[in-house]
Amino acid sequence: MTAAEAAVHEAAPAKINLALHVTGRRADGYHLLDSLVAFADAGDRVTARAAGQTRLHVTGPMAARVPVDARNSVLRAAALIGVSADITLDKHLPAAAGIGGGSSDAAATLRALARLGDRPLPEALSLGADVPVCLLAGAARMCGIGEDVARVEGLPALDAVLVNPGVPVATPEVFARLECRGNAAMPEVLPRWRDGADCARWLAAQRNDLEAPAQALCPAIGAVLERLRAGAGCTLARMSGSGATCFGLCPDAATARAEAARIAVERPDWWVVATRLR
Ligand code: C5P
Repeated sequence: MTAAEAAVHEAAPAKINLALHVTGRRADGYHLLDSLVAFADAGDRVTARAAGQTRLHVTGPMAARVPVDARNSVLRAAALIGVSADITLDKHLPAAAGIGGGSSDAAATLRALARLGDRPLPEALSLGADVPVCLLAGAARMCGIGEDVARVEGLPALDAVLVNPGVPVATPEVFARLECRGNAAMPEVLPRWRDGADCARWLAAQRNDLEAPAQALCPAIGAVLERLRAGAGCTLARMSGSGATCFGLCPDAATARAEAARIAVERPDWWVVATRLR
């Protein structure tokens, strides 16, 4: 087999918290969440080839922001599964951005190395609270601190714009600023959404409880939400995760592309993509 044939590719899609309710706090300080999570077409890409020793190469437009030492989630994932490989991370997502870049990279690495080394997937929570849902890489309801994930069937495909103002946000600082730590969960039974518009209307009644503390820490988030709401195209604008990336839901792909183009012209310094969430 040639080296090219032995390469394993895995997508590491952006994770979007369509709703994120903070329902409590554990004695160890971690927060209990109830979150509806979807994944974007946009994301990073992990390629792995069998090798005697693990090495990581980072390419792509966001490569400069990624540490290549032991902090890197790809190397931590490789150590956890115990399969050595030559790994390339093609980095397109901004880091510390609320869209699970590092977690999705870790999950994609676990999937790639499990295939390469013919190993079962390990228990992934130790790599980060978002890694279990990223292993699923499909619409899911995430509870507990992130370990309790259940696939959600019937989420309509949602056309969206993702916008990040280029300011990294530290997740622990956002949680530390949270005023109320015992908010209501989402309804126990999720509805059967008829289509994307029906889903967007339902989402409007849900929340991201981290939006206010993240905005207090990073005022650029308010500017992003304001830009998303300024056009006529977005039916809902909300922050994902602990920010600073926000998403705007649009009725169709053409509107998402038009909204993304408008914002990219207004703010050429921001990261803006039109994508589909599913
Ligand atoms: O697990 P992860 O590294 O993504 O979490 C980063 C930080 O975010 C944690 O150290 C904790 O302060 C906070 N966090 C939390 N509750 C969660 C997830 C994360 O308080 N469910």
